[in-house]
Amino acid sequence: MKAVRGTRDLLPPETALWNRIEATARDVFARYNFGEIRTPVFEDTGLFARGVGEETDIVSKEMYTWEDRARAQSEKTQSLTLRPENTAGVVRAYIEHGLGESGLLQKLYYIGPQFRRERPQKGRYRQFSQIGAEVIGPPSAGSESPLRDAEVLEMLSTLLDELGIKGWILHLNSVGSSADRARYNDALRAALVPVVGQMCVDCQRRAETNPLRVLDCKVPTDQPFIETLPVIADSLDEESKKHYAAVTAALDAAGVPYTRNHRLVRGLDYYTRTTFEFTHGGLGAQNALLGGGRYDGLSEMLGGPRAPGIGFAMGEDRLVLTLLAQQEGESVVTKADAYIAPLGDKEKADELVKLNAAALGLARELRHQGLWIELGEGSFRLKKSFDAADKTARQIVILGEDELQSGILTVKNFSTGVQSKVPRGELAVFLSIPANE
Ligand code: HAM
Repeated sequence: MKAVRGTRDLLPPETALWNRIEATARDVFARYNFGEIRTPVFEDTGLFARGVGEETDIVSKEMYTWEDRARAQSEKTQSLTLRPENTAGVVRAYIEHGLGESGLLQKLYYIGPQFRRERPQKGRYRQFSQIGAEVIGPPSAGSESPLRDAEVLEMLSTLLDELGIKGWILHLNSVGSSADRARYNDALRAALVPVVGQMCVDCQRRAETNPLRVLDCKVPTDQPFIETLPVIADSLDEESKKHYAAVTAALDAAGVPYTRNHRLVRGLDYYTRTTFEFTHGGLGAQNALLGGGRYDGLSEMLGGPRAPGIGFAMGEDRLVLTLLAQQEGESVVTKADAYIAPLGDKEKADELVKLNAAALGLARELRHQGLWIELGEGSFRLKKSFDAADKTARQIVILGEDELQSGILTVKNFSTGVQSKVPRGELAVFLSIPANE
């Protein structure tokens, strides 16, 4: 049996990197006063159809959806979907729990798996993990303020820097209000009429159903046509223009670098005004480390109160890929502080039992003192113990009959080759000092 196409197992030592990324994200979120939300992995299909949009690629072709059969007369058969993203679920929870009633801004973050039936390739999987956050609340809490947009973007630049991601680029745009977008869609439709016949079949369909999506097209021969299309900035009303100008002014003041990208319209329908992506050159075709934006009408679309919001989701798989590529040449293998090698006479079974028991006691003592210990086996020969120890630990501690009697242990450091005699009482301190290397 194999893992299903587009899914994968994450194994050590790489999982240590995943944990480090998550710990750094939690730490940064806490400093910006975000709290964690955990929503279910599956939801009613209607949530995504209404929230993300029927016409989007995600909803129209990428969702894992099934009819969940009723198990009792009191239940109804229901169409359920593995979440392809987490914003719709967070807004559903915001409405369901009346989180807006406190009158305060809700700042929520999440870390977890998402599911999309896309064509798998480097950086694109059918189960992937997102680290995301949403800032949402009633307008009276300041949820519409461009300062919120700028603060989220500033937090992201801090987070990527603290993760050690080098060379990210922030692409920024405004897709305006829904009225602005309707105007822009009309302008696009009109401009597409004379050229769309020469464009790809997807664009021909998009020109009818959702002309904005034409801007996402990556087909090389379509690009000259797309370059001549009107830009959304020209369709923004005064309020949307003011909002965008205030966001960029706050980013300038904070010293967060960005580039304006008027083709950045994003693949989900709930966006209004600010949209953004952070890209990284090392990722190849799937170069978006993260994406997000404002969604001022989403709560109402889901039957909730007015609750403007802004948020983002980072592709954790892509953060890992980027960091691994940056570390190339550096070892990602981290080693235990010490390997305890009980060494006895293979012929003497009783002695081995005693040595193994003593080794477990020593390992327990050292682990309780905070050391990272690997435990060997008394039936191993000297060479086998050394080979195993060299692969997993920085140092080896030899525990034989003599050491057990005298309480003085033999420690060998693999990087310096130095061998030392250390009294048991001083062992923990000795093993933990990097200067002994
Ligand atoms: P999204 O752009 O669809 O936005 O996804 C955000 C990020 O998730 C992408 O930039 C990418 O890094 C990662 N990602 C998406 N699909 C895959 C995949 N198949 N394999 C690996 N990584 C992937 C959203 O999901 C919005 N909910 C973001 C948001 C939050 N907007 C407002 N709040």
